[in-house]
Amino acid sequence: MTSSKKLRIPIVVGNWKMQGSSALVNSFLTELIKSSDSFKVIEVVVCPPALYLTQAIKLIQSSQLSNSNPIHFSNLWIGAQNAYFKQEGAYTGEISPSMLNDIGVKYVILGHSERRQYFGETDSLIARKCQAAYDMGLNPILCLGETAEEREKGLTFDVIELQLDTVLSEISKEARDSLLLAYEPVWAIGTGVTASPKEAEEVHAFLRKKLAKLDPKLSDKLRILYGGSVKANNAKDIFDEPNIDGVLVGGASLVAQEFLNICEAILKVSWKLSY
Ligand code: PGA
Repeated sequence: MTSSKKLRIPIVVGNWKMQGSSALVNSFLTELIKSSDSFKVIEVVVCPPALYLTQAIKLIQSSQLSNSNPIHFSNLWIGAQNAYFKQEGAYTGEISPSMLNDIGVKYVILGHSERRQYFGETDSLIARKCQAAYDMGLNPILCLGETAEEREKGLTFDVIELQLDTVLSEISKEARDSLLLAYEPVWAIGTGVTASPKEAEEVHAFLRKKLAKLDPKLSDKLRILYGGSVKANNAKDIFDEPNIDGVLVGGASLVAQEFLNICEAILKVSWKLSY
């Protein structure tokens, strides 16, 4: 374990994608809130579809009000899966960072490979979204990752580097400081094939080194998550790697007990870090 990992608060993010329901928001968060005493040393973020964000935030807020010790809940947040780069205007169907901020959202996933693949999002567009999210006080979780074909051709580092460099060159230093990165190899998303802890760590260490050249302080503090078929039974080994600061969980974040088991696994390693 490197000493610098101690400087970064571990984080578990659940990305429900276009799945879930109002009933699931209620039952899932009720379960999570019950266990949130354990989340004192890690951050937990749940990202339901946009339609359910308000309901989710209200649920957390009302449990805070009814609890005598609201501090217990301070590390449980609701995040969004996407946001546009304009704050308002005639952009039918879009949701702006200022609206997310208005309802109490703190994190937003940007540049997910599904948005790149199905909605044609480019690095430049993603950069504008990161900047706009930062401008409204949100923390962007910027996703990066190579396809199976790119990995086979030995292009993993080139692809990741280009994705990151394009975004970093188009946003302000302040926006850059607000970022979290998520390394999500496309071939590992929703496939049940996880990158091995070593494969993931190799990319995380590469990203950390790149950031260090830019700004050593930022590199020490910026959190880099791993995503791609994370489950309760592999989360601990992944998180054990020195440059992996948390996980971004898709499928396994839809079942409260499985998600809690992932949080538990991260928590076990976190205690070793002795915050
Ligand atoms: P998965 O998805 O855990 O279902 O592989 C991860 C993600 O897309 O963020």
